[in-house]
Amino acid sequence: MVSAYTYLVPERGVIYQVMVDRFYDGNGSNNGPFYDPDHKNYRLYWGGDLEGLTEKLDYIKSLGVSMIWVSPLNDNINKMAHGSAPYHGYWTRDYKGIDEHFGDWNDFRELVEEAQKRGICVIVDYVPNHAGPATDGEFGALYDNGTKVTDYYEDTKNATVNPITGIREAIYHHNGNIFRWEDIPLKYANLYGLADFNQLNPWVDSYLTEGAKLFVENGACGLRIDAVKHMELGWLESFYLRLYSERPLFIYGEYYSLSTDRTEDLHELYRYSNVSPVLDIPIREDIVRTFGFVGSFETLAGELESYYSIFVYPNKQVNFLDSHDLVRFLNEAKRDDALERFHMALALTMTLPGIPVIYYGDESYLVSKDGKGDPYNRPMMVFNNSTEAARIIRTLAELRKTNDALAFGDFKTLYANYSVWAFERTFGTHKLLVVMNKGSPSNLTLSLDWPDGAYSDALYGAGMTVKGGKAMLTLPKNSFYVFHIKRPQDGPLIGSLTPYVAQPGQEVLIGGAGFRSSGRVLIGGEEAEVLSWSPSEILVRVPEVETSSAWVDVTVEAGGKRSNPAKLRYYSGSDIPALVAFNASNFTGKLWIVGNISELAEPRPLLESSTGYYFTVVPLPNGTAFSVRLYRGSAWEELEPLNVTLYGVGNRTVLLKAEPEGPPITSSPVEPSLSESPGNMPGGWPAKAIYASLAVLVVLAIGMAWRKMR
Ligand code: NOJ
Ligand code: CA
Repeated sequence: MVSAYTYLVPERGVIYQVMVDRFYDGNGSNNGPFYDPDHKNYRLYWGGDLEGLTEKLDYIKSLGVSMIWVSPLNDNINKMAHGSAPYHGYWTRDYKGIDEHFGDWNDFRELVEEAQKRGICVIVDYVPNHAGPATDGEFGALYDNGTKVTDYYEDTKNATVNPITGIREAIYHHNGNIFRWEDIPLKYANLYGLADFNQLNPWVDSYLTEGAKLFVENGACGLRIDAVKHMELGWLESFYLRLYSERPLFIYGEYYSLSTDRTEDLHELYRYSNVSPVLDIPIREDIVRTFGFVGSFETLAGELESYYSIFVYPNKQVNFLDSHDLVRFLNEAKRDDALERFHMALALTMTLPGIPVIYYGDESYLVSKDGKGDPYNRPMMVFNNSTEAARIIRTLAELRKTNDALAFGDFKTLYANYSVWAFERTFGTHKLLVVMNKGSPSNLTLSLDWPDGAYSDALYGAGMTVKGGKAMLTLPKNSFYVFHIKRPQDGPLIGSLTPYVAQPGQEVLIGGAGFRSSGRVLIGGEEAEVLSWSPSEILVRVPEVETSSAWVDVTVEAGGKRSNPAKLRYYSGSDIPALVAFNASNFTGKLWIVGNISELAEPRPLLESSTGYYFTVVPLPNGTAFSVRLYRGSAWEELEPLNVTLYGVGNRTVLLKAEPEGPPITSSPVEPSLSESPGNMPGGWPAKAIYASLAVLVVLAIGMAWRKMR
């Protein structure tokens, strides 16, 4: 257990992403089997390990980053599968152990402690959707701290058909490969042949949670969760809540969605992001196209504004330019000025809303000679921190630590045409102006509400004059300038909550400015216990709040002033992942439920099974009675109420009924608190405040009293 944990407001930091096997070999004795010392075969191990990573921490620190995201470390299969060794770490066989190619728990603790000494924390990639390949290699063999539990074929023998979901299941789902990338197959079938976990099996649920907790107990400050799109959000919620009960963590998910088109998929990405930050995958391709090929800044600016506007916390989502899944920018961009454009795109991902990720080797212009994506985007690291790219990363990482407009600012385009773009970001008295030009040299005059004066850009020292609300700039071809100002914040201002979901008793870190040296924090109107307080960070414990809303307000009071309200996604506590279902025979179409407890306050889409049920997974307080109302409709549209209310009591499986269990509820059922959703939830949820009638309050009070009695 790592003592004296230093908390970090993630938005003030930059993440450095490392594929451990391809970074640095610190121990030659753990390289085999399946080792290629010549680094020619991209599908074999190349020797990188935890000791090597620890050795290179000073190098990583020299880039100014404060978080390292390491590829999955858990013990992977000991065989080749589909022509590849699991050098990448995504084919786990034992979630309680570290792969022998990378080291052991002592090496992990050593990494965490040495990183902490340098002001860096470690985020581990964790893979709870699937184990290894089901039909090759070790055939989904699964171990619990060295003891074999099952494999995919043995598990088939124990599998039975779940009467509600219609899925053959035991430890794994036995529903073939994902053949249709939506609905049931998306979450209940094997992703690229990988043995898909049945997370609703109580043993799997606790096994995967214990595995993740081991990283937390050994000092990780966060997790990057693989393939969240292929798991039920309701299970993830209860999984995250159990991890957050350890301490505030920075957990973000990989929801793979490539476009900003308003599809159901993008809608789901936003729904997931209300529970945990996600990687900003949908915008990455547009950025690469606009800088690496052709495309208008005006179009990109519009797309980004619309994309960011829907998140409750756009600044907590995770930006990247390169990754281990996509072709590296420098391999993809076919232009004479590709390097200059790479510098611009890199600086952009570090100045947009969202926490930036630097993929290992971006700073040293690492490319593979084969130039393609996975696995060729994973060459052996070349260490060089004296490049222009490294200077850009370092400069903007340092600025992010001190100017909160980078960490928490809003996002407003002031000017955009095909080749020139200026956007401003503001957080209280901290401001940032980013201006770029990818076309021929030009002069730009902008309306800018900054004090008169001469300003100097952080990256190149370029000048800007502001007079009477007009800024004048000279922009050479392929220029990228970052201007900033900062004055003391007058009054408290909240920029972030870590995490932004919580249950009573949990700790939450509040990041912002103007907190002075003491004050109080209200959460949902209740005073929260303060655990530590500084002018820019407060640590509090979440109190119990009487609410049936999904989100409650967090405010800071200091120096006789009250801050802006920040939204905290509230859960009543002791939630268990519950399969919630009802008979489908009386209904058609795409249905949603909204209920009278916080966990159910935002619309949840249902799946329809081949066995005649509508179902979903919801984190539910065990033993608590609740009701839901049914809606029909598509994502992005206004949902149509069906005027049907169903009732249930929190349990692992809940079959909703037309009548409540337990003491009769005399008045009409509680209406959903739709009016409580933040205004920027995906479009078209039913109109506001329709249900805020007195009758509702009366019924709520009866419901609460009944809950307390039970
Ligand atoms: C997404 C990861 O980023 C990718 O590298 C991996 O192969 C798949 N998930 C499956 O785990
Ligand atoms: Ca799955």
